Amino acid sequence: MSEIETIEKEALGAIEQAGDLAALDAVRVAELGKKGRVSCLMKTLGGMSPEERQTMGPKLNGLRNRVQEAVEARKAELEEAELEKRLQTERIDMTLPPRAVPEGRLHPVMQVFEEMAAIFGDMGFTVAEGPDIEDDWHNFTALNFPEGHPARETHDTFFFHPQQGAAPKVLRTHTSPVQVRVMEAQKPPIRIIVPGRVYRNDWDATHTPMFHQVEGLVIDKNIHMGHLKGCLIDFVKEFFEVANVEARFRPHFFPFTEPSAEMDVKYRKVGESIEIGEGDSWMEILGSGMVHPNVLRNCGIDPDEYQGFAFGMGVDRLAMLKYGMPDLRPYFEADAGWTRHYGFRPWLSPSVAGGLS
Ligand code: DAH
Repeated sequence: MSEIETIEKEALGAIEQAGDLAALDAVRVAELGKKGRVSCLMKTLGGMSPEERQTMGPKLNGLRNRVQEAVEARKAELEEAELEKRLQTERIDMTLPPRAVPEGRLHPVMQVFEEMAAIFGDMGFTVAEGPDIEDDWHNFTALNFPEGHPARETHDTFFFHPQQGAAPKVLRTHTSPVQVRVMEAQKPPIRIIVPGRVYRNDWDATHTPMFHQVEGLVIDKNIHMGHLKGCLIDFVKEFFEVANVEARFRPHFFPFTEPSAEMDVKYRKVGESIEIGEGDSWMEILGSGMVHPNVLRNCGIDPDEYQGFAFGMGVDRLAMLKYGMPDLRPYFEADAGWTRHYGFRPWLSPSVAGGLS
């Protein structure tokens, strides 16, 4: 084997063997560098006779070119493998919680949902949910809103285009339809709260077309207004974290309860902020009542055997009252500065024993 063939065989073997870019570069320098074997062979051309040069020139050029090409090809291979390795090891699982200090904040409405679940959970309630898109039966008819009844008009309902022959679906105007869904699916005793979004065609400083409610429902034997009052007064004390709450239940009308009452609590203004519990003025904070026998019957429950109470409240306003936020509109503007200021640290689960806020 000629020297050229030996060098070519050894060089190509070493290039093939090079396991990383640094090893490959060492081979390149040893063969093609200034003092490399191939370069030194090339230099011998100068001392050759013209005839020799004519035969050796192409052979040596061929050698140099093949070694150069082999280095380039191996380099591309190694770079590709290196990138692949990095892509594998630097892969990020977006479903994992962040490792650094969490930046995000829980929206006050979500915080208040959690607090309410903690308070009512402590009283034995569980959380139920239902669809945002409702049918006429669950949103109105089963809740004792007869067809054409004026109470339907008060809800500023968003209707969907009707499907052939069917009553149009609606964006639920309150969380009360979930009462119906739970009673249809489950036998008493029932004790649930229902947090959720509700929708009405209304838009001004204190109304947004989407807002949040929590509904409550208790169905059992021998339930009466005393239970309703006790439960709601306890709730308000826990929620506002005060020892005393002066409350009154003022007669009202809701189609789905009889009797119905709005709950007012005493409050006082201290500078810009409001203290709930005692004071010189009344503030309405929720609606409530004894579940109407028609509603029980509509859900297959015998009103002679079971009774219950229900309540419903607007969560956005309760969050404003508790946390001193003056304006409803920023709730829905996704302003990071606002959320950082009024938001809550995530994963700090509120509890009645461990503290709500
Ligand atoms: N659904 C009522 C509303 O959106 C709130 C409400 C009032 C719910 C009284 C109730 C209740 O369950 O008993 O205005």
